[in-house]
Amino acid sequence: MSNEEVFFKWLPDYSVRIQAIDDQHRELVNILNRLFIAVSRREGDSVVAGILDSLMSYTQTHFALEESLMRQAKYKDLEPHIAEHRLLIAKLDTLTKKYLLEEKPIYFEMLSFLKSWLREHIQGVDMKYSAALLQAGFSVTEWEYEAEAEMRRMSNSKNWWEVWKAA
Ligand SMILES: [Fe+2]
Repeated sequence: MSNEEVFFKWLPDYSVRIQAIDDQHRELVNILNRLFIAVSRREGDSVVAGILDSLMSYTQTHFALEESLMRQAKYKDLEPHIAEHRLLIAKLDTLTKKYLLEEKPIYFEMLSFLKSWLREHIQGVDMKYSAALLQAGFSVTEWEYEAEAEMRRMSNSKNWWEVWKAA
């Protein structure tokens, strides 16, 4: 992918200063970029479906991990954060169902929406919780082990993982 083709370019400004969270956010950006390419090139349904499945599963796992981190740290604004996550999952679910069941095409507006949502979410509420955790001196080491194990479990159990990476 050459530079000018990159739909969603990762910038250092997006870092929340927690390595594992940054890595997961970057992976979400990668999946979104892969979806953009597939839609632009009108790749086949099975490719697009695989990427959508990856996007959904990865997003759900990432949100669950973020929520468990905030819970462990007894972060005060956990509930509104969870509500934001739920809204996005509902949007993704609608998009996926429209594509798979109603055979509606994926429009660039929807991809742009996902991109802005993710960027604003990271720079808004994600930045807030990470700043609060770091300021409180909360150690993320234990959570990082859990997160790694969870990601491993997910990639071992789902074949979509290989589908989108190989596509
Ligand atoms: Fe979040």
